[in-house]
Amino acid sequence: MKCAIIFTVLAVLGVSSVAVAQTHNYFFGSRVPYDSLVNQTTVIQTSSFLRVKTVDVEYPLKGQRGRNITAIYVYDRLGGGRGGFASITGGGIGQNYTRIHLKTQRGNGMNFQVEIYGR
Ligand SMILES: *[C@@H]1O[C@H](CO)[C@@H](O)[C@H](O)[C@H]1NC(C)=O
Ligand SMILES: *[C@@H]1O[C@H](CO)[C@@H](O)[C@H](O)[C@H]1NC(C)=O
Ligand SMILES: *[C@@H]1O[C@H](CO)[C@@H](O)[C@H](O)[C@H]1NC(C)=O
Repeated sequence: MKCAIIFTVLAVLGVSSVAVAQTHNYFFGSRVPYDSLVNQTTVIQTSSFLRVKTVDVEYPLKGQRGRNITAIYVYDRLGGGRGGFASITGGGIGQNYTRIHLKTQRGNGMNFQVEIYGR
């Protein structure tokens, strides 16, 4: 019985680490009723030998009012474990602005689809 449980835990860990190796999706917050897509943007950077590239996505545009952010979904369209990293470096969930920092792996590019939801 104990064996079976340990095996299950290992199997779950195994599956999730395989998923992590393939795509670098990032999900912050979660959608709620009556929220909507307030900005969607695709960020593409080509790979460059031994270099790390970074891009910051900001919401809202300067001078515009931001909605109350409920979720930020970052989809890795590069796949194959080559995708970059995403983190929130300003504002975020429950706030009316955000800055999302996107970073490539060294020597790799990025193709991220960023979706920001708010209400
Ligand atoms: C969404 O954000 C991107 C990046 O900041 C910007 O270029 C684009 O104009 C924004 N679109 C809308 C509809 O606000
Ligand atoms: C965010 O909300 C505060 C307080 O309501 C407001 O003063 C500020 O202008 C808002 N900022 C944006 C970017 O909408
Ligand atoms: C956004 O909504 C949450 C939950 O209702 C609330 O706690 C927060 O103060 C709101 N933030 C803004 C900037 O309106």
